[in-house]
Amino acid sequence: MKAIDIRNKYLNFFKAHGHAVIPSAPLIPENDPSVLFNTAGMQPLVPYLLGAKHPEGTRLTDAQKCLRTNDIDEVGDNRHLTYFEMLGNWSLGDYFKEESIAMSYEFLTKELGIPNEKLSVTCFAGDEDCPRDELTAECWRKAGIPDDRIYFYGKDDNWWIAGEEGPCGPDTEMFYDTGKEPCSPDCGPSCDCGKYVEIWNNVFMEYLKKDGKYTKLAQKNVDTGLGLERMTMLLEGKQTPFDTEIFSPIMEELQRLAKKDDISSRRIVAEHLRASIMIIQDGGRPSNIDRGYILRRLIRRMTRHLNKLEIDLDKLSNLIQLNIDTLNELYPELQNNKETIKEVIIAEKDKFIKTLVRGEREFDKVIGRIKSQAKQEIDSEEIFKLYETYGFPPEVTKDLAEENGLQVNMDEVDKLFKAHQDKSRLGSEQKFKGGLAGTGEQEVKYHTATHLLNAALKLVIGQDVHQRGSNITPERMRFDFSCDHKLSDDEKQKAEDIVNEWIKQNLAVTVLTMKKDEAIKSGAECMFIEKYPEDVTVYSIGDISKELCGGPHVKNTGELGHFKITKEEACSSGVRRIKAVLE
Ligand code: ALA
Repeated sequence: MKAIDIRNKYLNFFKAHGHAVIPSAPLIPENDPSVLFNTAGMQPLVPYLLGAKHPEGTRLTDAQKCLRTNDIDEVGDNRHLTYFEMLGNWSLGDYFKEESIAMSYEFLTKELGIPNEKLSVTCFAGDEDCPRDELTAECWRKAGIPDDRIYFYGKDDNWWIAGEEGPCGPDTEMFYDTGKEPCSPDCGPSCDCGKYVEIWNNVFMEYLKKDGKYTKLAQKNVDTGLGLERMTMLLEGKQTPFDTEIFSPIMEELQRLAKKDDISSRRIVAEHLRASIMIIQDGGRPSNIDRGYILRRLIRRMTRHLNKLEIDLDKLSNLIQLNIDTLNELYPELQNNKETIKEVIIAEKDKFIKTLVRGEREFDKVIGRIKSQAKQEIDSEEIFKLYETYGFPPEVTKDLAEENGLQVNMDEVDKLFKAHQDKSRLGSEQKFKGGLAGTGEQEVKYHTATHLLNAALKLVIGQDVHQRGSNITPERMRFDFSCDHKLSDDEKQKAEDIVNEWIKQNLAVTVLTMKKDEAIKSGAECMFIEKYPEDVTVYSIGDISKELCGGPHVKNTGELGHFKITKEEACSSGVRRIKAVLE
């Protein structure tokens, strides 16, 4: 079964079970101080898991674009991916364990046709924070899973939380038995010998973790996640996601073009190229900090492996096009941006290639020295020197060293870099404090204008308009928001008029420090709640707008001047973008 069919079946199945199908949030939550990329389907839904009312109701389903970068160095083996799509369904205080498990079982066995005997499941074994999850095991028994395929594990395996704090709970994971021989008598779903492949995770989110303590949330939620690429691999009987139609055309083309045979390099190129395309599509651009640096790393690593495969770098444009065509069924919107995507990747490749060629030459000298001394490890100093003198990125040196069988002490390298990077780290820390600390007068005005526009759009289009991102320069503001249609001229005019009316009213902008929960209860709007500190600042503008925000803002809307929308366009599926200026 192809990926697109699995996705459609999933969304249709949950729609038939009363779920509203919502669009994927952008991969990049702009202006979100806590995460670089969406790493799970639940991330854009955190406020609703905490109790805010979702405009689409209490049963939701979607196919969320996700990127996880912690395993970036593992890409190249037969399973790791950075970018992936997570199919998910949510109950926001609606159904709980029984219905969730019954639906999952029905979907897996009836819709996807997975035989019962291929399935094993795990449940939470219980500890001082939360009792043993007997109900979940009972639900599985009722569905038809025998006791010898129901396992109990502790927090390490059967508890799910995004990061350190936030909504969380015991989970039940479903595993597909590949039929391989057990690696030992103790082999079970928690073993990673490859016999069992995790296919779906249902989290029973009824807890909140704060300051290391667990309390009960006001509502019992269900949060599930099913990895599309992995399920496609299993249902197509393939050994790796790279053998499915999502990657196979590009993998075959790389093999045809390469002068060196190296499957790991081919996978790295295919995977990083797809991830880069998806990041750029959602507005990411290479830079030296945060998410921009992740994109830079992906493109650099891809370039190096293209080089290693001895593929002519002039072929890159065709490879990107092939990748976009391959993803046409899943992400047709990529075709609209193909020129930008190519320009960004090729420009970054061009910037890097000189450094790469020179750096590799210097690295070869270092390797020669190390080998002549019969050492097993590359000195951290050498890694730092290659960076300082030739701009050769440490992660590239690390990859090269490991490919040459040398050990690398990255902790030590990090220490050496710490002093060097203090300056840029300061920049990113300021950003993490939230808002626009340290920016100029004009940016501050635009920042206040985004709050006004957010409130105006709610009046013109509806209360389900929510901010999806924003970007401010001294020249203009950009504001992304959830909306399923192109704005009519009338709607744009109305929004503009309302903002200008509020500017004319000289509304006071006030700030209050509040407890996070109180702020949400008081109806303050916020994009992402989970990692805001306990005490948050809430900015109000007259009585028309109230948002959780780090500031800064003008004191009075009268300072803004005249507001004008210059452009309205699609940003991603279900998300529109407005560009506007203050004149
Ligand atoms: N949020 C859960 C996960 O990512 C479903 O596994």
